[in-house]
Amino acid sequence: MADRILVAYATRYGSTAEVAEAIGDELRKVGAEVDVRPVDEIQDLSPYRAAVIGSPIYMGKWLPGPQVFIEKNQQHLRTIPVAYFAVGLTVTDRNPEILKKAEASMDAVRLLVNPVEVGIFPGRLESSGLSFTDRTIVKMIRAKTGDFRNWGAVRAWAQAVNQKIAAA
Ligand SMILES: Cc1cc2nc3c(=O)[nH]c(=O)nc-3n(C[C@H](O)[C@H](O)[C@H](O)COP(=O)(O)O)c2cc1C
Repeated sequence: MADRILVAYATRYGSTAEVAEAIGDELRKVGAEVDVRPVDEIQDLSPYRAAVIGSPIYMGKWLPGPQVFIEKNQQHLRTIPVAYFAVGLTVTDRNPEILKKAEASMDAVRLLVNPVEVGIFPGRLESSGLSFTDRTIVKMIRAKTGDFRNWGAVRAWAQAVNQKIAAA
C-alpha cells in the first residue's frame, strides 16, 4: 500500500543529504512513515503516497540524477503530491535577480511534474575535499565558503509540505 513519503536527493559533498534528512525527520515528527534515499537508489515508487525531491545547484542547474529520475517516473509522479527543493550558495544573496537564477534551476522539473510546494535553501561549501575541477571553479569565481544552512527554515518548509500533502 502507498502509505510512505519518499524524500529523494542528490548530493556531491553531503550538505543536501543532511537537508534531506532534516526534512525526513520533520515529516516523521508529524507521524509520517518516511524513507530518505539518494535518488539513484530508488527502484520502486509504489510504496509512496508523496515524494519530496531535491538537489544542490551547480553552475545554475540541478545535478542530473534527480532530473533524470523525474523524467523517467513522470507518469507515476503526476499521480501523487510532489515537492521540490534546491540547495545553493547564492540563495543567501539579497539580489532578487540572483535569487531568480537559483530558482530557475527548478524550471525544467517543474515543467515535467507540477509540484505542490517548492523550497530553496542556503547550503554549505568547504574549500577542503572539493574535486580539482570544483576547487578551480570556486577559486575562479571567488565563491564564499562556509555552512549557511538554516535548519529552522528547512524544518518550517517540511511542515508546510506536510500540510500540502495532506490537502492534496
Ligand atoms: C563548482 C561549484 C558550483 C556551484 N554553483 C552554484 C550555483 O550555480 N548556484 C548556487 O546557488 N550554488 C552553487 N554552488 C554551491 C552549492 O550548491 C552548495 O555548496 C551546496 O550546498 C552543495 O551541495 P552538496 O554538498 O549536497 O553537494 C556551487 C558549488 C560548487 C563547488
